[in-house]
Amino acid sequence: MSIETPPFLAVAPAARLGGGVLRGRLGASPVFLAPMSGVTDLPFRRIAARLGCDVVVTEMVASGELTTGGVDATVRLAGEGLGLHVVQIAGREPEPTARAAAMAVDAGADVIDLNMGCPAKRVCNGLSGSALMRDLDLAVAIVVAVRAAIPDSVPLTLKMRLGWSRETMNAPELARRAVAEGVELVTVHGRTRDQFYDGAADWAAIRPVREAVDVPLVVNGDIDGVATSRAAMAACDADAPMIGRAACGRPWLPGDVGRALRGAAAIEPPRGTALAELVVEHHEAMLAHHGIRVGTMAARKHLAWYLDAAIADDGLVVDEAARRSLLTTSDPHRVAELVRRIFSDEAERRAA
Ligand SMILES: Cc1cc2nc3c(=O)[nH]c(=O)nc-3n(C[C@H](O)[C@H](O)[C@H](O)COP(=O)(O)O)c2cc1C
Repeated sequence: MSIETPPFLAVAPAARLGGGVLRGRLGASPVFLAPMSGVTDLPFRRIAARLGCDVVVTEMVASGELTTGGVDATVRLAGEGLGLHVVQIAGREPEPTARAAAMAVDAGADVIDLNMGCPAKRVCNGLSGSALMRDLDLAVAIVVAVRAAIPDSVPLTLKMRLGWSRETMNAPELARRAVAEGVELVTVHGRTRDQFYDGAADWAAIRPVREAVDVPLVVNGDIDGVATSRAAMAACDADAPMIGRAACGRPWLPGDVGRALRGAAAIEPPRGTALAELVVEHHEAMLAHHGIRVGTMAARKHLAWYLDAAIADDGLVVDEAARRSLLTTSDPHRVAELVRRIFSDEAERRAA
């Protein structure tokens, strides 16, 4: 992919880039942060976007919850301060899903992404998420209803798996039918639903989707840096990588990958004091967004990921007692103090 031929312009017919939103906002070699329930809340998406991630996607918003005024769905919908607000909707029936998508647009969504890839039993038993890949007529009916319910200027995108099982890999068929009904970008996670997260993502198995549709294709699954982004994109001729779990504790990673794919100068990942201040900022933003009680609990997994990432990537040495205190205290001031001590003091001690 060269900077001269931005892939999203090269492969996507202009007529399909509804209202020019995708075309106008996605530059060359964009990188996506994967939607992750319980992870990609507004504070995390804001930080990833600020650090250079081109497209961040909300956690899955359940259409039933949104249309009945569920608090969690409303919190997930937040997108203030994002340049491009992509809201992912999951639903099992056309009409309520369409209503939820329209509500998301009214609340500020720039792009609606439909979830047909989630393997969770809670979601699949209700025949949404990847269960829709077992009923393509219903899946397409949802696409049709949502497309009709949102303005032409709001692009509709679709995230799916390879299929329900290895024997029924119908992603190309779903992609073809969905694109015929107005879907403008397709993301494929290179696993089947019955794999859950087992085994390795099979990027080459996504290639038939590339052959089935001429809209931008995003490849997802087990991408953890520049080399795997390039390999995944090459395996299925995708236009962009989507990074999920590898960005946990490393919100700068999608931005770093994007800069490398574009041939732009690399920026040193934050470490020491800079990392400590980023973690403190993230923690405070989560408390402000979710409230102290929910935010404190939700932030702990991010704190653990930051620790694990710094240990794995940077050889940070963390005292077990300090780790335990950090992951159990409910006092925000104590969290900030411990984060600064663990990330900056320790890093500086090692450098001395
Ligand atoms: C904790 C967690 C939550 C997830 N939630 C969602 C979700 O809400 N919507 C969705 O489409 N995929 C969801 N996924 C799947 C990811 O978007 C992605 O497809 C998957 O993790 C594979 O990418 P990765 O190997 O880069 O993590 C979730 C994954 C994880 C680990």
